[in-house]
Amino acid sequence: MTDLDQLKTDALTRIENAPDAAALEALRIEFLGKQGSISGLMKTLGKMTPEERQVQGPLLNGLRTETADAIAVRKTMLEDAELDARLATEILDLTLPAPEAPKGSVHPVSQVMDELAEIFADLGFSVATGPEIEDEWHNFTALNMAETHPARAMHDTFYFGDNHRDADGNRMLLRTHTSPVQIRSMVENGAPIRLIAPGRVYRSDSDATHTPMFHQVEGLVIDKAIHLGHLKWTLETFLKAFFERDDIVLRLRPSYFPFTEPSVEVDVGWQDVKGRRVLGGDGDAPGHGWMELLGSGMVNTRVIEFAGLDPDEWQGFAFGVGVDRLAMLKYGMDDLRAFFDGDQRWLDHYGFSPFDQPTLSAGVGAKA
Ligand code: DAH
Repeated sequence: MTDLDQLKTDALTRIENAPDAAALEALRIEFLGKQGSISGLMKTLGKMTPEERQVQGPLLNGLRTETADAIAVRKTMLEDAELDARLATEILDLTLPAPEAPKGSVHPVSQVMDELAEIFADLGFSVATGPEIEDEWHNFTALNMAETHPARAMHDTFYFGDNHRDADGNRMLLRTHTSPVQIRSMVENGAPIRLIAPGRVYRSDSDATHTPMFHQVEGLVIDKAIHLGHLKWTLETFLKAFFERDDIVLRLRPSYFPFTEPSVEVDVGWQDVKGRRVLGGDGDAPGHGWMELLGSGMVNTRVIEFAGLDPDEWQGFAFGVGVDRLAMLKYGMDDLRAFFDGDQRWLDHYGFSPFDQPTLSAGVGAKA
C-alpha cells in the first residue's frame, strides 16, 4: 500500500467514527485546514516535475474530494441523529391533564379597548368598525384631504400596487387612521351618530414609540346644535373614568386637522403635590406638566357634505387617540415594540385575566 492509500484509509476510518460535530470539525481542520496534512500534500504539487504532477495531481485531488465528501456525509448523519434524539425527548403528552393555571392572558391593547367600550357605552356611544384595507377616498379624500393635500404625504401610507383599485378607480391602501370609519358610518347610517371606532392602523414608521401597525380609537358625535363644550365635557369625562382620577385637567390648544374646523389638540395636565410625576409627561421635570394626548375638533362641514349629510342641519365633533399610547400611560410600559413581540414574559407581566372585565362600578382598570 502506498503512503497515500494509507493516509486515505486512516482519514476515512477516523471520519466515520467521529463521535460528534466538534470531533468531526477537528478532523476537518487536521486534514483539510490551511495547515492540514492533505492541504500540505497539495502544496507539494507545485515543486514536482510535470510528469510527476500528471500522476500525483489526480491522486491528491481525489484524496481531497473523497475526504471532504466523507466529512459531509458524517456531518449529516450526526445532525440527523441529534434531531432524532431531541424529538425523542421533547414529547408533548396530549393525554396529560391541562395545566392547573390557565396560561393565556388578555393583551393590554384588548383590555384598554374593552375599557373604552365600557366607558363610552355609559355615555350612549356604540362601537363601530371599518376595513383595514381602505380606499383613498374614505381614508383621505372624504376627510377633506384632496390628492394634493400636504397632510396626505405626512401619513407614510402603505399603498397597494397601482393595479389594485376599487370600482371608482381609487387606489387601495392600509388605513393610516381610524377616521375613515367616520365617513363609513355617516354614509351607511346617516345622523344622529354617537360612536367610537377602535382598531388597527398602519404607517411606514418604526422606533421605540412607533410601530408600522398600531391602534387608534376614533370618536364621532353627529347631532343638532353640538358645540365645542360637548366635546370638552365628553373628553374630560372619558379621561377621568379611564385614568380613574378626578384631578385630571385638560388643556385645549388650537391646532389643524383637515377634517375638523376648528381643530383642537388636547393635553392632559399631570401634577403631584409631592413633586412626583403622574402619568407620562415630557422630560423629568418634577411636579407638573402637559402631555399631548389626542386630536379632536368640530367635524368640518366639507366632511359632513362628503358623507352625504346636510351641514346646515347636522354638526358634531370627532376625536382620535392612540390606544397603545393610552395603555402605555395607564399601565406604565415604555417601549411600544414590546406590545407586538409576543414575548410570554411580557404577556405574563402586563396581560390581564379574562375574568378581569372592566366595569364602571368596579373601576375600569381594576387589576386582580
Ligand atoms: N386621524 C388623526 C390622526 O391619525 C387623529 C384625529 C385628529 C382624529 C383629530 C380625529 C380628529 O377624529 O378630530 O392623526
